[in-house]
Formats: sequence, C-alpha cells, structure tokens
Amino acid sequence: MNDKIAVVTGAGGTLCSSMAIDLAKQGYKVALLGRTLSKLKKVSDEIKANNGIALCVPADVSDEVSVKKARDIIENQLGTCTVLINGAGGNQNDALPNIAAFDERELNDEEGVKGFFNLSMDVFQNVIDINTMGTVIPCFVFGKSMAKNKKGNIINFASMTSYRPITKVAAYAMAKSGVVSFTQWLAAYLAPAKIRVNAIAPGFFLNDRSRMLMLDEVGSPTERAQNILGHTPMGRFGEAQELIGCMNWLIDEKNAGFVTGITIPVDGGFLSCPGV
Ligand SMILES: NC(=O)c1ccc[n+]([C@@H]2O[C@H](COP(=O)([O-])OP(=O)(O)OC[C@H]3O[C@@H](n4cnc5c(N)ncnc54)[C@H](OP(=O)(O)O)[C@@H]3O)[C@@H](O)[C@H]2O)c1
Repeated sequence: MNDKIAVVTGAGGTLCSSMAIDLAKQGYKVALLGRTLSKLKKVSDEIKANNGIALCVPADVSDEVSVKKARDIIENQLGTCTVLINGAGGNQNDALPNIAAFDERELNDEEGVKGFFNLSMDVFQNVIDINTMGTVIPCFVFGKSMAKNKKGNIINFASMTSYRPITKVAAYAMAKSGVVSFTQWLAAYLAPAKIRVNAIAPGFFLNDRSRMLMLDEVGSPTERAQNILGHTPMGRFGEAQELIGCMNWLIDEKNAGFVTGITIPVDGGFLSCPGV
C-alpha cells in the first residue's frame, strides 16, 4: 500500500479524471494536479465517496517552482510518487487557424480569415510550453524522487498528431511529436534507475473544449468531426474508460516489466486508415 502513490496531472480533465478514479479504486493514494481547484475537487469527492484517498494539489505543470511545491506537499502528506500520469495538456482555440492551407487573404489580415500568419506567437508558444515542458517538468521533479527509490512508472500523453501533423494544429502537433521523442529519450536514460517511461496516444475523445468544435448546437458532428470519424474505422469517438486497460497494463510490473519507451495508440483504428 505504501508503494501505491500516484500523481495524475490534468486530473480534473476528461481522460485523467477517469484514470485517477481507477487508480484510487486499485488502492493508490492519488494526488490530483491541475490549475483549477474546483475541477480537482469534483474528482476527489468521487474518489472519497468510494473510500479512496485523494489529495487536490493545484499546480501549473509548465512552472518548475509550482510543481516542486506540489511535490513537497505530496511527499509530506502521501509519500513518494511511484506512478506519474502526465495528462495535463491540450490545445487552445486561439492557437487554431480557421483555414487548412495558405490563403493570400491572410497576408492582409482580412476579416474572417485566420491563417498561420495571423496567429499570435505567444499563444503558439504557450501550447508548446504546456504540452512539452508541462510533461518534462513533472518528469524532472517526480522522476528524481523515483530515481532515489529505484522504482517508478511514468505515462505521458501523445496524440494522433504525434505521428503526422493534422491540419490546423501546428503548435499542438509539434509539441505532441516532441512528447514521443522525450518519452523514448527518458526511457533509455532512466532504465538504470528502474523507471519505465511510456506514452499513450489517444485517438479522438470528446472533452469540454473539443465538444464545441466537434458537435453543433443540436449535437450533430460538425464537418471536421465527420472528417475525423470518416477516418476512424470504428466510426465513433473514444470513451475515457477505454484508455484504462492500456494504463493498467503499462504500470503492471509483472505483465509489462520489459516495456519502456513505447507510445501506444488507442484510436479506433485511426492510424491504420489513410482514408483513401
Ligand atoms: N481528448 C482527446 O481526444 C485527446 C487526444 C489525444 C491526446 N489527448 C491528450 O490527453 C491529455 C488529456 O486530455 P483531455 O481530453 O482529458 O483534456 P482536458 O479534459 O482538457 O483535460 C486536460 C487537463 O489539463 C489541465 N491543464 C492544462 N494545462 C495545465 C497546466 N499548465 N498545468 C496544470 N494542469 C493543466 C486542465 O485543467 P486546468 O485548466 O484547470 O489546469 C485540464 O483539466 C492531454 O494531454 C491531451 O493533449 C487528448
């Protein structure tokens, strides 16, 4: 029981709230990290209602000082992290152009056209920071404690756009392909410390932000969602619960003890379907 301490970043979100709840059911003491306490509180209430142990720790994963403060609180109150789920991340609507390829009108800042050349570089960089440094910093901070104990498991979050860039999501694609590379690098680096590092690449799962882009006012798929579903052989979005088996396999020393540095797609067949 003392070994079962999980830190879940992005724990107030769609995918990682499910993971945190499942880990608590398995007897993990779970530290819930995110910037918004109210989101974390909802998840911790559910865990506690099922007699689990959860600790809400508001923190910004792209800020080293903030994550170190969180680590101190967690080590004081729960103990040393043995499983780190790096789920904090995602895209931002302001970082998205509304066209998929260059249009001359973007050069004149024409109203209604938002191309690559009309983006804010600050927003672009923020998406990269949260998804890349927001993965690196928790690995750096919690990984050091794991390395002292020669024990630990890290799961990062990649994406379908880690493999080939999807239209309109340049910063996010760049960041998520970086996550795959960092996962491999860190897996090799930490192997002597007996820490395994892997990633999950979810296909398309609705969350609060993407729901607005994927569904119209009456809940029907938008043109972009139809395009995505048309390239997903299973013809539907994933459900958060469908990532749990992958997480549980990756953190299981008996069944996955020789697995490190991989990124596992859970995508309804998206990567297997070129759409032609
Ligand atoms: N949903 C999908 O289809 C999909 C597909 C591929 C990959 N992913 C990846 O899977 C992970 C989870 O996605 P999701 O769908 O569950 O997204 P989500 O519902 O938006 O959850 C992400 C959580 O991350 C937290 N977060 C964002 N920036 C943060 C920061 N700087 N510091 C701390 N927490 C931060 C957010 O909470 P606060 O804003 O309160 O901090 C939010 O609760 C993300 O890395 C995402 O990129 C998702």
